[in-house]
Amino acid sequence: MAPTILVTGARGQIGSDLIPALRVQHPTTKIIASGRRTETKKEIELLGYEVLDVTDNLHLQKIIEQYQVGTIYHLAGVLSAKGEQNQKLCWNVNVNGLKNVLEAAKSYRLKVFWPSSIAVFGANTPKVNTPQTTIKEPSTIYGITKVTGELLGQYYAHQFGVDVRSLRFPGIISYSTPPGGGTTDFAVEIFAEAIKKGSYTCFVHPETRLPMMYMPDAIKAILKLMQAEPAAITVRSSYNLAAVSFSVAELVAEIQKHIPNFTCHYRPDFRQAIADSWPSVIDDTQARKDWGWQPSYDLTAIVADMLQHLSIRSSELVVSS
Ligand code: SER
Repeated sequence: MAPTILVTGARGQIGSDLIPALRVQHPTTKIIASGRRTETKKEIELLGYEVLDVTDNLHLQKIIEQYQVGTIYHLAGVLSAKGEQNQKLCWNVNVNGLKNVLEAAKSYRLKVFWPSSIAVFGANTPKVNTPQTTIKEPSTIYGITKVTGELLGQYYAHQFGVDVRSLRFPGIISYSTPPGGGTTDFAVEIFAEAIKKGSYTCFVHPETRLPMMYMPDAIKAILKLMQAEPAAITVRSSYNLAAVSFSVAELVAEIQKHIPNFTCHYRPDFRQAIADSWPSVIDDTQARKDWGWQPSYDLTAIVADMLQHLSIRSSELVVSS
């Protein structure tokens, strides 16, 4: 049997969709989902779930040894908005957690995936067609932890030959889990509110334009990157990755094509400054060249698919309640 796959932060936004995809791709491989939350006994049996706080280095090592882990998808992390509210936690989970994973990867010869973010960029970075290699002076503690993580990953790859791979994700739009404390959460929340209430109050202004991606594309990117031959991976810090860029006003107009009476109000808060510090369009030429990255979903396709899935879910809830 192939060495076990361990997923940290498994119940988060990416993990919730990545684990089913990994099960399809590796049907005979044991996959251990882990996270800080205690699950019910049934869930533990069903999912192969382990309670694991990635800042607990000894426990991480114990799980790696116990299950003979060969690959880690290290998804545990604190996002940008939540990070500003708890900088200490953000640093501890995002930097010390990753450092523990990289140390383990060095000792046990593990392959690692971890997500970085467009948050590594800041106000001095070119906003349009942001290059792979450019100024990285983030204004958030989250961005600082991601820059640190990228440098750590690159260091472990070059110094110790650790096979670490990473993507700078834009905002990810998905329907499996509620959003988890990021600045791009509005692009997820808006769909559920449009269906439930017919209106949404957005915490950034209508002209805010950010790079975004639909979850199936994010999953496709992770699987493709992890399948690539090691020699093809020329970037060990983290790859720029793009799919679509749109303003909130454009998103609202696209939703209104399906829900004509939908209205959006605007009440910008501290997240506006974070959004303003990030690029609006990312250049992902290197990812396309090295391992054949190609997104599938544009704004029209994302909105249609999101509304369809969330509508089915809300009608199921009405029927079963
Ligand atoms: N979506 C993330 C956030 O908003 C960015 O990586 O924090």
